[in-house]
Amino acid sequence: MAIEYCEVFPIVLLLCIFFNVEAQQATFDITKYGAKTGGDSTKAVTDAWKAACTSTTGSKVVIPKGTFPVKNLKLEGPCKAAIGIQLQGTLQAPGDVSQQSKKDPWIAIQYVEDFTLDGGGTFDGNGQNTWSQKQAKKLEFSQPTNLGLNFLTNAVIQDITSLNSKMFHINVLGCKGITLQRIKTTAPDESPNTDGIHVGRSNGVKILDCTLETGDDCISLGDGSQQVIVNGAKCGPGHGISIGSLGLYDNEQPVKGVFVKSSTLTGTMNGVRIKTWQNSPVGEASDIHFEDIKMSNVGNPIIIDQEYCPQKNCKSSSTPSKVKISNVGFKGITGTSSTQEVVKLVCSKSYPCTGVEIGDINLSYNGGAATSVCTNVQPKLSGNQVPSVCTGSSSSGSGNNKSSGSSNSGNNKSGGSNNSGNNKSGGNNNSGNNKSNSASSKASASSKASASSKASASSKASG
Ligand SMILES: *[C@@H]1O[C@H](CO)[C@@H](O)[C@H](O)[C@H]1NC(C)=O
Ligand SMILES: *[C@@H]1O[C@H](CO)[C@@H](O)[C@H](O)[C@H]1NC(C)=O
Ligand SMILES: *[C@@H]1O[C@H](CO)[C@@H](O)[C@H](O)[C@H]1NC(C)=O
Ligand SMILES: *[C@@H]1O[C@H](CO)[C@@H](O)[C@H](O)[C@H]1NC(C)=O
Ligand SMILES: *[C@@H]1O[C@H](CO)[C@@H](O)[C@H](O)[C@H]1NC(C)=O
Ligand SMILES: *[C@@H]1O[C@H](CO)[C@@H](O)[C@H](O)[C@H]1NC(C)=O
Ligand SMILES: *[C@@H]1O[C@H](CO)[C@@H](O)[C@H](O)[C@H]1NC(C)=O
Repeated sequence: MAIEYCEVFPIVLLLCIFFNVEAQQATFDITKYGAKTGGDSTKAVTDAWKAACTSTTGSKVVIPKGTFPVKNLKLEGPCKAAIGIQLQGTLQAPGDVSQQSKKDPWIAIQYVEDFTLDGGGTFDGNGQNTWSQKQAKKLEFSQPTNLGLNFLTNAVIQDITSLNSKMFHINVLGCKGITLQRIKTTAPDESPNTDGIHVGRSNGVKILDCTLETGDDCISLGDGSQQVIVNGAKCGPGHGISIGSLGLYDNEQPVKGVFVKSSTLTGTMNGVRIKTWQNSPVGEASDIHFEDIKMSNVGNPIIIDQEYCPQKNCKSSSTPSKVKISNVGFKGITGTSSTQEVVKLVCSKSYPCTGVEIGDINLSYNGGAATSVCTNVQPKLSGNQVPSVCTGSSSSGSGNNKSSGSSNSGNNKSGGSNNSGNNKSGGNNNSGNNKSNSASSKASASSKASASSKASASSKASG
């Protein structure tokens, strides 16, 4: 728009040139501050940042090509003008976590307005040893997040890679107006708690065209995530795209206004998910929409789980979640499932889900008839559902006379869920939609402890 303005109004041209010159940021190359490839560059990066931050015109910290080891970095504002980091090379964390602070992210960027991070480079969290020690129970659960973006306003993070984080890759906390685009996170399927992008207590977040390969949720949106758009995400390996978990703590803020669109999930443990802890304090998640999502070999492609309790150590499984879920849409969701229950809407008995809409879906399971489970929810159906969802054979013109979690061909056990040891399920007595609580406990087996990890990462960052 600015360019058009300059073209249309020649008199303004001079001004535009002037501003472009001004906009040519002063650069602060870390090698001018003593950074050397292969040598500890913590101080050099910190010093370059401090100098840039006091610049009264726009400034840019440049990390050139090469690998620069750094321990914890805390790059803080407020700064005097817009500031950026151009990461062309690689910043590398210590392989030995004892050389890092555990309560801080490896790299924290915080309290900055008008911030840009780009350059095509890599944050290498060097987490391989940490994962194996965690798995051997020699290290505690909480480990450093690669990148903590805390309390940023008007920020763009683009064209960077987060590699092998020790914990979450990117944690967005307390931000207003932040765009993360063309970001890649990479860690192996089995790396614990390496969520791709976690968001909490932030308003106006865009996550666009990101490729998230990791060992936990590709994207997770914690409490206080508001006005979040996810578009063009490619997720897998990983645990899927998740709202929550919610309801682990008191005074959580509502999740409101989430649109996840035009994304693909491949081989993930879950698809698109909303999860809330059972026996939770009061909370709220509303206005959440999943549209045009392609699934390939995904477990639980569509899932609301209000009985989340990954460690199975919850005091009372019979005390329902008090997180109220409303106005949720699943539309245009297609592909293949690795689990039989392709739609699982297990809502709270005390706070049933309201305003849930299921549009066109077409999900197949290659081990038999796909099924659905619906508890404490009566979704509005529009378009075609394959399989039919939450009704008997009367569902809206899908021409599909198969299961709605009840009539699964070749399996006359309860509910379509192969739930050995539990014969309470209401699937066989399908009088209307008001089934008994047939949630299988399998649902909550996914994504162990990732909720507490999120919480700890958030509180870590906020403390
Ligand atoms: C569902 O998907 C399958 C496989 O792609 C396709 O053959 C079938 O026509 C689709 N059904 C509907 C109703 O879209
Ligand atoms: C459902 O399938 C059964 C047997 O396959 C058939 O007899 C019945 O007419 C079908 N009902 C509908 C509504 O298509
Ligand atoms: C299970 O289904 C089979 C075949 O449809 C039927 O013969 C059998 O009686 C059923 N068993 C029960 C307990 O409903
Ligand atoms: C039910 O689950 C058990 C154990 O997971 C499995 O061995 C069995 O094959 C399953 N049956 C069906 C019908 O899926
Ligand atoms: C299954 O249900 C029947 C009838 O409700 C009951 O008698 C039986 O004890 C139940 N079995 C289990 C394992 O819960
Ligand atoms: C199904 O449930 C209804 C209402 O709870 C009950 O009246 C009916 O007897 C049940 N039918 C069967 C077959 O269990
Ligand atoms: C569902 O069943 C419960 C108890 O069985 C009842 O209180 C509730 O009103 C029913 N809801 C609907 C929509 O039928």
